[in-house]
Amino acid sequence: MREMGLGPVWKLRAASAAQPLEEVAAPLPPAEAPALETVPAAGVATVHGAMNWDELAAAVAVCRQCPLCAARRQAVLGVGDVSADWLFVGEGPGAEEDQRGEPFVGQAGKLLDNMLAAIGLRRGEDVYIANAVKCRPPENRTPAAEETAACRPYLQRQIELMQPKLIVALGRPAAQTLLGTEVKIAAARGKLHDYRGIPLIVTYHPAYLLRTLPDKARAWEDLCFMKRTMAMQKGG
Ligand code: URA
Repeated sequence: MREMGLGPVWKLRAASAAQPLEEVAAPLPPAEAPALETVPAAGVATVHGAMNWDELAAAVAVCRQCPLCAARRQAVLGVGDVSADWLFVGEGPGAEEDQRGEPFVGQAGKLLDNMLAAIGLRRGEDVYIANAVKCRPPENRTPAAEETAACRPYLQRQIELMQPKLIVALGRPAAQTLLGTEVKIAAARGKLHDYRGIPLIVTYHPAYLLRTLPDKARAWEDLCFMKRTMAMQKGG
């Protein structure tokens, strides 16, 4: 909590720690979850569906499936342990990530590392970090639906190869890409979602938290929820 700038005042209440998942898990009601218009071309998904990690990395490096390839310095596949139990998915590379070829290396990355530390995790150790889009959107704008849709087969294949025990969607574009629905973070957090049989939790994007300090307390609740969920996944 100190790492997240919350100070030593927050305590996990026994009641909330023991709250069964069923009580906090509920799918988004249909009214809040209209299907996204854009679905990746079946051909693209099929080709990626047979790739191993090396083939996937090679395909991402030369990808030209959407306009984001025009301005990128390099595509950023992800970083970490490819057999990790934890998968964190962000939005897309920023300027520093585009330069270094690694997700979350700027200010938001520092906060993400601190969030990981707050629940006993370290980048690269049982954690993999990826993004909804692998190429930097110009001016760090939010990726367009067509861009996340074009990139989604890569993320899908990463998840198929990894088989994480828990996926954490950091922010709206990541959540929408993974859930295939319109998502409002306030409504989606605190619930256990499902990505093809893998539990998925939605929380705030670290860059948002840097701008919106009061929501760090909610992010802390989300981190506790993630930890409980992982413990249940591991049978603890
Ligand atoms: N924000 C993201 O969503 N991903 C990154 O890799 C960096 C910043």
